[in-house]
Amino acid sequence: MPSQNRGVVAHQFGQPLDVLQIEDIATVDLEPNAATIRMIASPINPSDLIPVTGAYRSRTALPFVPGFEGVGVIEAVHAESDQSLLGKRVIPIGSAGGWQKLKTTSLRWCIPVPDDISDLKATTAYINPLTAVRMVEAHTEDSKIRTAVVNAAGSAIARTLAQLLRNKGIRTVGVFRKPKAEHVNSQWDEVVYTSEGTWVEQLRGADLAFDCVGGTDGTKLAESLRYGGRFIHYGLLTGQPLTPQLWENRPDLTIDLFRLRDWVHVAHTHELQSAFDQVFDLIRSGVVDTHIQEELPLEDALRGIELSVTHASEGKIILRP
Ligand SMILES: NC(=O)c1ccc[n+]([C@@H]2O[C@H](COP(=O)([O-])OP(=O)(O)OC[C@H]3O[C@@H](n4cnc5c(N)ncnc54)[C@H](OP(=O)(O)O)[C@@H]3O)[C@@H](O)[C@H]2O)c1
Repeated sequence: MPSQNRGVVAHQFGQPLDVLQIEDIATVDLEPNAATIRMIASPINPSDLIPVTGAYRSRTALPFVPGFEGVGVIEAVHAESDQSLLGKRVIPIGSAGGWQKLKTTSLRWCIPVPDDISDLKATTAYINPLTAVRMVEAHTEDSKIRTAVVNAAGSAIARTLAQLLRNKGIRTVGVFRKPKAEHVNSQWDEVVYTSEGTWVEQLRGADLAFDCVGGTDGTKLAESLRYGGRFIHYGLLTGQPLTPQLWENRPDLTIDLFRLRDWVHVAHTHELQSAFDQVFDLIRSGVVDTHIQEELPLEDALRGIELSVTHASEGKIILRP
């Protein structure tokens, strides 16, 4: 039987630093086709904090352990289920629960990790890389796309988007909030700062934009696109929706919303495996290269959450359960 479990738990919805607690968790009996994974590492992503605030309360049962991403080793499998993954390193996907020592999930959600992919590479191989790969595949077929703009350009996903777009011969413009020394010689062909009053004019009508900011700045980014441009909205870092008038003001735009979970929950096992194989290759070639800011023990999770928000551009905080 697995040993004692401990993790970061939300007993109520609210601001993460107010409501999350680190505590012992009762272990559960495995159901058929379920596995217990001893978590090795799990990053703190913006999307992990959203359900804690109660934003998805209709599909989030309390109490729960956050953490949509991570890597671990399968420590136990239900006695009547396939034992072949026992002892293997896997990325458990499809549910929260990464921020604990022992995560229980269905075997079908366990993606095996190749031996040459390190724990730190594996733990960040899912949410952002898979989203970037799927969005770029879906929206760059049109050969008329010459320039793409990406906001929150210092984020982990934006850096991967920049590399993938460049590999397709598309010119990239990164939108940051304010200038920092590391933006010079970064992977962007051009950078623009929203702290400068003329940032929208500087964009000069690009063909494609990826927005994870929403609110006024996301809306302005959409409105900056050329006639008939394409706008992909995949996040809400401001916590504010796009201005509803956008759809009336710019009926010429194609506006798409992207959520990785919508794809993951309908994809066949072979499609998931093939998407991960693609990401593992992109990690090997350095196209996906997620920066790590700090690794912290589970007991320091609240400090990690604070750092993940205040110093996001310095890289991911990794919890070591
Ligand atoms: N739809 C999906 O399926 C999906 C999948 C993956 C990721 N996402 C979304 O993608 C976004 C980025 O995720 P990540 O893990 O790559 O983030 P991250 O590495 O934690 O970086 C966050 C970045 O956002 C910037 N930022 C924070 N608040 C901002 C604001 N109000 N306005 C403009 N910029 C702001 C920060 O820049 P500075 O502080 O330096 O300015 C930082 O560079 C999140 O919204 C996440 O939910 C969505």
